[in-house]
Amino acid sequence: MEQAGILGLGCYLPPRKLTNKDLEKMVETSDEWIMTRTGIKERRVAAKECASSDLGVEAARLAIKDAGLKPEDIDLIITATVTGDMAFPSTSCVIQDKIGACNAAAFDINAACSGFVFGIVTAKQFVDSGLYRNVLVIGSEKMTSLVDWTDRSTCVLFGDGAGACVIGKANDRKIISYFIGCDGSGWNLLKLPAGGSRMPATEETVKNKLHFLKMEGNEVFKLAVKVMADAANKAITKAGLLCNEIDLLIPHQANIRILMAVAKKMGLPEEKIFMNIEKYGNMSSASTAVALAEANKEGRVKKGDHIALVAFGAGLTYGAVVIKW
Ligand code: UT7
Repeated sequence: MEQAGILGLGCYLPPRKLTNKDLEKMVETSDEWIMTRTGIKERRVAAKECASSDLGVEAARLAIKDAGLKPEDIDLIITATVTGDMAFPSTSCVIQDKIGACNAAAFDINAACSGFVFGIVTAKQFVDSGLYRNVLVIGSEKMTSLVDWTDRSTCVLFGDGAGACVIGKANDRKIISYFIGCDGSGWNLLKLPAGGSRMPATEETVKNKLHFLKMEGNEVFKLAVKVMADAANKAITKAGLLCNEIDLLIPHQANIRILMAVAKKMGLPEEKIFMNIEKYGNMSSASTAVALAEANKEGRVKKGDHIALVAFGAGLTYGAVVIKW
């Protein structure tokens, strides 16, 4: 029976690499500290003139082509981003214009690093209800535009990139279960304080660096392990599966130690965890999007496999999707 599944995938990483060695020249840090504490070796940095929509456009074009579709076949564009081109209009509207998806409705969602998972779950509702045939889901982030390059506790973690998929009625690569959740009591742990209605931009907010992201790293770390394992377990159980029946777990790439702890909690061996954090760092909503496209491209998934995408992020949001390849 046909149900919502993945029709096409694509990703785009800007070419410029920023290595740990480069960062050693910018803040008091070391390649050794960054590698052992986070697993990150390098990250990509988009050019000054390149915004999230530009990254998203590249990934979107590849996903639409991979699905064997044309831009005008897309009925809806959902972009998950916390680094939209501007507060409004939505980055999805800009992407719609740039790729010529003239028949598509378009809106953004903000679930931070869980955004791509939330986007897939949202797309599935539109496809299963019969309202839309082809929904383009994009995770696109220029995280380096929110980073305080003098704060060593955050600037070493993030990078830029975009991934996309087209969701439609499919015979394989079906979304067989999902779970999304939120613990709003943790909203204060990871945020960009100024520039919104709570604290509009003033000379003071700029001087106090309140337009850069702030994070309570330790607190987020502890919660991340718990909520990612819980979300994945819930979706896996809903699919009628056991953890050991998952062939590949594709987690949000926040920190290699978080990924190892989640694997341990779920009783999964390391080889079943997809990791590309070493190359890209944390790209927020683009992390799972790029990881899914790369896992497919690298042949890490084969027909009949069960894969689980799992993410957590600011909010705190969390969610997981199980796909039968
Ligand atoms: O996408 C979702 C959101 N984000 C996350 O998932 C991130 C979750 N948190 C983490 O990944 C980790 O908490 C961090 C990587 C951010 C930090 O690692 P940690 O092991 O929790 O280190 P820490 O914050 O406890 O800091 C340990 C020490 C401190 O020095 P003292 O106070 O012990 O002297 C920091 O000042 O490491 C120091 N430190 C650094 N040293 C060298 C912090 N950042 C750096 C750095 N280089 N870049």
